[in-house]
Amino acid sequence: MKLNFKRIVLVISMIFCAISLSFSAMAKSLSGELEIFSWWAGDEGPALEALIDLYKEKYPKVELINATVTGGSGVNAKAVLKTRMLGGNPPDSFQVHAGQELIGTWVKAKRMEDLTGLFKDQGWMNKFPKDLISLIGTDEGIWSVPVNIHRSNVVWYIPANLDKWGVTVPKSWNDFLKIAPKLQAKGIVPLALATNWTANHLWESVALGILGPDKYDQLWNGKLSFASDEAMEVWETFGKILEYTNKDASSLSWQQATDMVVNGQAAFNIMGDWAAGYMSTTLKMKPGKDFGWAASPDTEGLFMFLADSFGLPKGVTNRDNALAWLEILGSKEGGDAFNPLKGSISARLDSDLSKYNTYSQSAAKDFGKNRIVGSLAHGVTANEGFMNDFATVMGMFLKSRNAKQASSAAQAIAIQNGIATQ
Ligand code: GAL
Repeated sequence: MKLNFKRIVLVISMIFCAISLSFSAMAKSLSGELEIFSWWAGDEGPALEALIDLYKEKYPKVELINATVTGGSGVNAKAVLKTRMLGGNPPDSFQVHAGQELIGTWVKAKRMEDLTGLFKDQGWMNKFPKDLISLIGTDEGIWSVPVNIHRSNVVWYIPANLDKWGVTVPKSWNDFLKIAPKLQAKGIVPLALATNWTANHLWESVALGILGPDKYDQLWNGKLSFASDEAMEVWETFGKILEYTNKDASSLSWQQATDMVVNGQAAFNIMGDWAAGYMSTTLKMKPGKDFGWAASPDTEGLFMFLADSFGLPKGVTNRDNALAWLEILGSKEGGDAFNPLKGSISARLDSDLSKYNTYSQSAAKDFGKNRIVGSLAHGVTANEGFMNDFATVMGMFLKSRNAKQASSAAQAIAIQNGIATQ
């Protein structure tokens, strides 16, 4: 009996050995190139580099080409990607936001490969939140691999500066509008703002705060008109808030707006939690001590989320190498190498939170208990057609500050882009 048992164990371990040998032989046998495409350049690069390092370790014979186009929230990268995709020259894998940015653009145009097989092979069907899988899927398939969960509705500040100036973090926009003139009188910019997409980013936080989660969601299923009084109130409040932002906003990157807070030129900034990644990874600041955070005004208990993901375009040159890349992105190891540097949390349910700093741990806690809504500025709720048109409406509003005009223009583009019907 004993002998038999020993034999069985021996045979099993030989089988395991053989499997892992053949797997590593397979891994090493990948060669050629892999081109990945994203907007994570410069200060946004370290987290991506961690994934690239994992890939290089596993597939040393593959030459990885890290193609990036700088510009927060992918404003420039998306335009370049479009040219490449339409010109029949897709990168092997590209960054895309989970949600309408993926589904309403590239899946609708039938340019992506279905990754359901990969999800099943890797046992991922119950490793990611169900809602996230629905967001990257349609009845026909699953179309990308999510690498993170970012939070959009966060206000950032430096605790020591607020103490020095005698102000506290505003819980509501009314609070903000009360303390902002006091800060301004001291020569401090109340709210740092950057280039136009960051105005969209601020707008979505204001909209969530003013409308609340139900009505905010109704904007995206056509049940609440952008031309309604409530939606117009968002533009009105947004206009008042803009009075307390820096005049040179349009020429700044999002990092420069964060820098204004860090340097004490500004009191607050509303930005996604890639700002936490920037402050902790690049600027080496300690969360909770050197910088503080809170839900943006009027959004306590709400988590506006977005997720970065990578997909596999049809007809790529290095398909196997790209699949191996996606495998790393979706793995526990990949998620926990990337996200602690990025300021986001892993998209996986089994992530090891001990690897994350106090900011990310608090975000993970909130993600577990808050009401979740999707981001407009980062591709969750609306297709790219709407997003591009919304940027134009925003450009108009930044000049005119005309809330009525902006809300009726927003309703017109919602109809044009299939979000609203009347
Ligand atoms: C978001 C993206 C983040 C971060 C940010 C700033 O759209 O999801 O990962 O890169 O833009 O560029």
